[in-house]
Amino acid sequence: MKNRLEWWLLLVAFCMIYNVGMGQIELGKKGEKEFYNEPYRPQWHFSPKEKWMNDPNGLVYYKGVYHLFYQYYPEDIVWGPMHWGHAVSKELLHWEHKPIALYPDGHGYIFSGSAVVDTHNTSGLGSLENPPMIAVYTYHDPKGEKEGRNDYQTQGMAYSLDQGDSWTKYKGNPIIKNDVYKDFRDPKVFWNDKSNKWTMLLVAGDHLQIWLSDNLIDWQKVSEFGRDQGAHGGVWECPDMFPLQVEGSTEEKWVLLISINPGAPNGGSGTQYFIGDFDGKTFTSDQKESRWLDWGMDDYAGVTYNNTPNNKRIFIGWMSNWLYGQQVPTQKWRSAMTVPRILSLKKIGDTLSLINYPIPRFEAIVDSGVSKDIAIDKGKKTQVDFANFNQAQVTFTTNAKDFQLVFKNRLGEHLDLNLDDNKQMFLLDRSQSGRADFQKDFAAKVQRMPIGNLPNGPIEVRILLDRSSVEIFINKGQYVMTAQIFPKENYDTLSIENCSESSIIFRDFEVDGIQGVWRK
Ligand code: FRU
Repeated sequence: MKNRLEWWLLLVAFCMIYNVGMGQIELGKKGEKEFYNEPYRPQWHFSPKEKWMNDPNGLVYYKGVYHLFYQYYPEDIVWGPMHWGHAVSKELLHWEHKPIALYPDGHGYIFSGSAVVDTHNTSGLGSLENPPMIAVYTYHDPKGEKEGRNDYQTQGMAYSLDQGDSWTKYKGNPIIKNDVYKDFRDPKVFWNDKSNKWTMLLVAGDHLQIWLSDNLIDWQKVSEFGRDQGAHGGVWECPDMFPLQVEGSTEEKWVLLISINPGAPNGGSGTQYFIGDFDGKTFTSDQKESRWLDWGMDDYAGVTYNNTPNNKRIFIGWMSNWLYGQQVPTQKWRSAMTVPRILSLKKIGDTLSLINYPIPRFEAIVDSGVSKDIAIDKGKKTQVDFANFNQAQVTFTTNAKDFQLVFKNRLGEHLDLNLDDNKQMFLLDRSQSGRADFQKDFAAKVQRMPIGNLPNGPIEVRILLDRSSVEIFINKGQYVMTAQIFPKENYDTLSIENCSESSIIFRDFEVDGIQGVWRK
């Protein structure tokens, strides 16, 4: 008896000294294990700690920090009264969560918008020594909407004097009223050197409006664009506009981004672009047809950073689609953002194209693998094994235009990608990629991307996978497809099939792991 008691006391003493209460250690471990490790949790994309997120908002760089605000509903994993969530990063890869920046108020929910640094204190809301950060957003008054009125979307403004940590709403809100348009929203504000004015883009149902201001508070409408240009299968949302120099020349063109929902080429939400000119007041473009920044179903409401070093155009999109975004099979949170991408303009053949491609810094979280050439005879397949393709990058360069790539797991789930020379099409089929039955449109159709303007000669194919997404960049971002996937297990084999009439070679074929970016 005495012996047992002694042993027992010894054990208790040991646990106290080493602070390893059994339950505690287990709990501690479990907590660690679950942090950003739930089923389908993106390991290297931005996602909120919990609850619902949609559009990126207020993308602005200030004093060494990239701010990412986002449409956020902190009470549920479906859309609700909108707030602006907030996160910051020094390099757009590792993020720190910040407290909610903007809460709904008497004027309504806080819808999408943008942020600027008012360096010369034109608003008078800060000082020259401490310029204010200014957020301009849409107020959405749900009461007015229910009553069927036309005045429920107005524009509001808030400012921060502590680099985004706390925000004060402007007392004269709303700064732009409206009793004409039911859809009147998503202000993108930027400083334009040409006109020496603050410039605001607003969408009003089926067209873009441009407004100018000297002080960010008093605004005047100066032009409209687009009623009869581009795609009009749905409401215009989340505009953005910026100049880009055509690669390899001194020519500068302006690019206008307009998200539309529905009406995207593969269904639901998507982002179109126009290339044209802007004289400080009016945007013009000869382009009548629609062109798409990303052909996949899961890149929406994307906009670019204001105030970046070296004027780089950095784009982030919401990696989802309004068709099924509120039904995807995640539990604690819903949605993620795309990999940050650099936008550029390139002449390919006779056509100017908007290119989007991961920021170079992304390489910092990619573990370099071994590259090799892979040759495949006509009609043959080869298989590449990798422990976890769902946190990996696959790259290669090839002249081949006819092949199929199939990512598979041990459960037999597979994601099929196909470059089809005959059809001049890239195809993505996620119907067997994992869970796909949570909503009828998610995998009903094979997603198609016409690739008719691919140059002859070798092209790079780059595929980025995370636990619940795939982003495909063909010819360094000339053609891009982003799609969510929900495999029940990680893919661990990639089968490559030569579908052409001759043998093909993939040069510098490489599979690299991508580091997780979330630490407790
Ligand atoms: C785009 C959008 C915006 C709106 C916001 C509301 O996804 O519909 O037009 O401001 O989401 O959350």
